[in-house]
Amino acid sequence: LDSLAALDTVVPEANRKQQTDRAPEQPENGFNNADDSDSSLPVVRAWGREVLSKVPQSRLGMDLVEASVFDSTEAVEVLIERALTAQPEWAALGGAGRAALLRKAAVELSRRRGELIEVAASETGKTLAEGDVEISEAVDFANYYGMSAAKLDQVQGATFVPSKLTVVTPPWNFPIAITAGSILAPLAAGSSVIVKPAPQAKRCAAVVVEALWAAGISKDVLIFADVAEGPIGQHLISHPAVDRVILTGAYETAKLFRSWRSDLPLLAETSGKNAIIVTPSADLDVAAKDVVRSAFGHAGQKCSAASLVILVGSVADSDRFRNQLVDAVSSLKVGFPEDPETEIGPIIEPAAGKLKTALTTLGEGESWLVAPRKLDTEGRLYSPGVRTGVRPNSYYHLTEFFGPVLGVMTAKTLEEAIELQNASAYGLTAGLHTMDAEELALWLDKVQAGNLYVNRGITGAIVQRQPFGGWKRSSVGAGAKAGGPNYLVHLGSWESRELPE
Ligand code: ALA
Repeated sequence: LDSLAALDTVVPEANRKQQTDRAPEQPENGFNNADDSDSSLPVVRAWGREVLSKVPQSRLGMDLVEASVFDSTEAVEVLIERALTAQPEWAALGGAGRAALLRKAAVELSRRRGELIEVAASETGKTLAEGDVEISEAVDFANYYGMSAAKLDQVQGATFVPSKLTVVTPPWNFPIAITAGSILAPLAAGSSVIVKPAPQAKRCAAVVVEALWAAGISKDVLIFADVAEGPIGQHLISHPAVDRVILTGAYETAKLFRSWRSDLPLLAETSGKNAIIVTPSADLDVAAKDVVRSAFGHAGQKCSAASLVILVGSVADSDRFRNQLVDAVSSLKVGFPEDPETEIGPIIEPAAGKLKTALTTLGEGESWLVAPRKLDTEGRLYSPGVRTGVRPNSYYHLTEFFGPVLGVMTAKTLEEAIELQNASAYGLTAGLHTMDAEELALWLDKVQAGNLYVNRGITGAIVQRQPFGGWKRSSVGAGAKAGGPNYLVHLGSWESRELPE
């Protein structure tokens, strides 16, 4: 898998070759030392500053975004008609025919690794390293859903009938991987797709869509539409011709979509409030590394991120683990993504609301182990914060913040720790660090989350190896996991047919 290779920061040979085959003017990634006297090159506004790119504007999604604003219900009707008209021919290719195009899509995404990393960095603040893994995950989605599509036609005694039209509303925090995966799955299953990009990550979605068009997927089967928020967006999402909406976003957004159309078939990955438990049998060095990476990767802006660490028994009673956390967190390099050494980049919008509260206010009994600091005037760049003394059922214990802040809780026993971990209304990811088989068995029996991780960080699910999807309020819809064997099965309907002799 491309992303497994990327975990070891090795670019697979196939990708290397494509990268070196590229035209000489095409950089490995953006933000390199362009000659700023060349006025034909785009100036990208990134995080309050202007950054000159070496990549032409047309390859950074800007042209497509400008050309794709749809701000009337009539324009939306035209898009829907286009998508519906094109769909039968797409479905008629069959699973194997579509799989061939998805394999080409994997190649096209891989060829654009540099542009995609640049767009993710400049538009959403993603560090170069985090952006790189996203491209690998997108490539994996293309190959994996292609493979799954080919299998749809091989089920004995049942015929898969693709949905006609899927609307995809991707998130800004995984603007390449989840955008690509959410588009590629319904395409693989034979549906036309209209992508309504996240307002904060339009160019990322545009470059993904252009890669898929370059692979030979038609512009009528896959439509990029920057549909205006408000009534026009509502018109699209709630349109009766839409067979399904694939959403990754807040639980509240899923509720809003359902309020617009109560029978809307929705496949939604929603919020999370995730915790890692560390027991006395754990390797504390590994646990500290995994907690820090899970809490602060992409500045904590992952639905899968660790928002809490729960220390059990003697780990809670001694200062050793807390001191390790302080050392590790204090050594993280905070900055802007064009610096390859940046580990914590800016947050997507100036901190406000719940996140601002989490970065500035302590609850009863809490104190800062590492106090977060605001490092710019706009409130987008924060050094990571760790609060200790978080009490059961407090505001911090139960609220999702989506930013660079971690809370420390304590429990006398593993049972108590699991109760704290399960107290959330969400159930997306959960972690346990232990070397004790009985502790592991107990945890597996009781924990309530979709993605479980043992002696590892709790972000970075891997296509096919660890399909991704939650329980409780972290998932709305059929409960299928992205990147897993049952995902496409939910994206159409099944008709019985006679069994062969
Ligand atoms: N799939 C992403 C992760 O696992 C959200 O971190």
